[in-house]
Amino acid sequence: MPDPFIIIIIVVLLNQFYMAIRAHLSSVAKNADRLPDLPISTKALATTILNHVRVGRLSKAVSILFSSEIPLPASIYANLFRICGSNKAIIEIRKLESHLITFTPSPPLFLLNRAIESYGKCNCLKDARELFDEMPRRDGGSWNAMLTAYSRNDRSEDVLDLFSSMIKEGISASEVTFASVLGSCGHVLELWLSKQLHGLVLKHGFVGNVILESSLVDVYGKCGVVCDARRMFNEIENPNDVSWNVIIRRYLEAGNGSEAVNMFSKMIKTSVKPMNHTVSNTILASTSFNGFREGLQIHGYSIKINVDEDEVVSSTLISMYAKFGDLDSARRIFDMPCSKNLRSYASMISGYAVTGKLTEARKLFDEMPEQTVVSWNVMLAGYMRSFKWDKALEFVVLMRKSTKCIDHVTVRLILNLSAAILDVELGKQVHGYAYRHSYYNNLFVSNAILDMYGKCDNLVRARRWFHVMSHLRDKVSWNALLTSHAQHRLSEEAMVIFGNMLGETKPSKFTFATLLTACANIFALELGKQIHGYMIRNGYDIDIVTNGALVDMYSKCRLIVYSLRVFNNAASRDVVLYNSMISGCFYNGIACKPFELFEAMEKEGIKPDNTTFQGVLRACICEGRVELGRQYFELMSDKFCLVPHMEHYQLMIELYGQIGYMDELELFVKNLPFTPTASMLTKVLDFCGNFKHRRLEKWASDQVNELDT
Ligand SMILES: *[C@@H]1O[C@H](CO)[C@@H](O)[C@H](O)[C@H]1NC(C)=O
Ligand SMILES: *[C@@H]1O[C@H](CO)[C@@H](O)[C@H](O)[C@H]1NC(C)=O
Ligand SMILES: *[C@@H]1O[C@H](CO)[C@@H](O)[C@H](O)[C@H]1NC(C)=O
Ligand SMILES: *[C@@H]1O[C@H](CO)[C@@H](O)[C@H](O)[C@H]1NC(C)=O
Repeated sequence: MPDPFIIIIIVVLLNQFYMAIRAHLSSVAKNADRLPDLPISTKALATTILNHVRVGRLSKAVSILFSSEIPLPASIYANLFRICGSNKAIIEIRKLESHLITFTPSPPLFLLNRAIESYGKCNCLKDARELFDEMPRRDGGSWNAMLTAYSRNDRSEDVLDLFSSMIKEGISASEVTFASVLGSCGHVLELWLSKQLHGLVLKHGFVGNVILESSLVDVYGKCGVVCDARRMFNEIENPNDVSWNVIIRRYLEAGNGSEAVNMFSKMIKTSVKPMNHTVSNTILASTSFNGFREGLQIHGYSIKINVDEDEVVSSTLISMYAKFGDLDSARRIFDMPCSKNLRSYASMISGYAVTGKLTEARKLFDEMPEQTVVSWNVMLAGYMRSFKWDKALEFVVLMRKSTKCIDHVTVRLILNLSAAILDVELGKQVHGYAYRHSYYNNLFVSNAILDMYGKCDNLVRARRWFHVMSHLRDKVSWNALLTSHAQHRLSEEAMVIFGNMLGETKPSKFTFATLLTACANIFALELGKQIHGYMIRNGYDIDIVTNGALVDMYSKCRLIVYSLRVFNNAASRDVVLYNSMISGCFYNGIACKPFELFEAMEKEGIKPDNTTFQGVLRACICEGRVELGRQYFELMSDKFCLVPHMEHYQLMIELYGQIGYMDELELFVKNLPFTPTASMLTKVLDFCGNFKHRRLEKWASDQVNELDT
């Protein structure tokens, strides 16, 4: 039996030995990746942990760590933080942090910074900020970690706040700092701050740092000052692929597609190889200005540099060819083995759906390995575009059964569908869905809900919803409310809405046509005049549609002089405007004016349509101009290739019969290219009674009898 005292001595010695090793270890902790001189237990522990991590068992790894009260080498913590961060394993990160803080008396700063970083990667800003605030000491890395955490989570305001505290505390900003902060500027459109930052970048001697300089280009672009972005770009000595990508993308987003393409052609003259996204953005740019030739060239170039089979590029090429109506080329790219991905499926389906080839679109949709929300949307939009309401409704039912992939576009589409088929029940369901899923804070969705209630005749609900969305409503919302009231002939209400609208927003020119129509319906001449005056005073560009509404309004309110003045002053005229004027004159009893207008129309080179002829024929009846009427009727098919409609035949019968041109009437009705209708025959019989024409009377009554049998 060994002496218990000796055992105690041995234990104490072992312990001291262990402590010495530990002290040594913490000094070499940073490069302890290979775990050279660890005591067996720690070394075994570390190996076990790393083995678990290697096969992805993070929670196991961390719980093993917790079975030990010995601090591990810093590199293990660092490793674990990094891996847990990329896996968004928030519970494990919290455990790691607590282990680190509990068992390491003063944990190294860089590890705490790593912890902040990994919290940021998990979107747990609260944990990150708590740790940051509790740190007794912070270095530049801590600030950067916190800034990056905010910036990664799009918390621009917080980034900018933190950055200003940092500057106040005299911490000098590094490249990483600037990159995070610059990344945030574009979001809140802080142009002023961007310029300050630009100054700081220069002051801190980061001139020539292509990353920061490209960030500045990006920020200026995002802030909407593309010319400043371009100036910055021009200052970059050796722009790299990112710099080019940024400037091209910003031109595209600023709606200057041709300049984007121009920059791309400059780029390919340098030795920098474009990224897949750059090529794809340039293709988008070419479609934005109908640059088919440019698009073809970029396609050729992408083949040359071998990016045409890239997922982004090939799907954009498919959209491009589809947009230019070349579905065969689009299909050829789609059929390449490499481009069967979800994106290109969506592009191809959209190409078919937009051109009404719904069967082909649906075939591809059904064949997709996994339907994305975009593909559901383009398919549904395709049905709606082609007015296939039944199919669209069926598709919505299918969607409800088989997918949870719904976004605000889907919600809007279904709302539009409800409005189109006047299915207010469906609309209410979507409204409920939008409410539960917080889409109602989306202005587009809210406006679509408003539009749906308005179109589905549920004006009470429309008004209630309009009130609910008062925190975000815009011009479009006002217009929708106004239009729905005007269309339901609630003209007085529409006027009240217009008055309220003026207090909140400036009406768009589309509002006026709606309003003027409402005025015409209730013969509200004074209001109509006021609106006309308002438009002139406020410098609205009065377009052809509004002019039409003005002509109608004045004609209906029997102020034909004003109608004619508007008509004569119109910057341009089309057949619709002429038709309004012709019927206005007729309505106001100036029945000879339409003939003049008809001549003027021919002189202006505007082709009359069936409505025009109805107008002039009515005028002929009114003025008793039988010969002229016959000429018009003949002109219709001989000169203008218009097939006369039933209404035109009726008018001709009226024209002959009114003034007793009975022989002409007989000839006309007996030679109709169709069997005369009952109402035509009744008219003929009336005229025969008035003007005593036996033969025709007999024929007409025989015809009536034949119709009856
Ligand atoms: C596009 O950008 C170029 C260069 O900045 C400019 O000259 C051109 O006017 C812009 N075009 C449009 C339509 O904005
Ligand atoms: C774009 O190119 C990069 C680098 O070549 C590649 O990693 C990435 O997967 C590509 N993106 C797509 C969507 O194809
Ligand atoms: C829904 O309809 C409105 C007009 O009724 C239209 O402006 C809008 O673009 C449509 N939205 C969708 C997603 O089709
Ligand atoms: C005029 O012709 C078009 C096309 O043929 C037709 O859709 C329309 O209903 C016609 N209008 C009238 C008033 O007959």
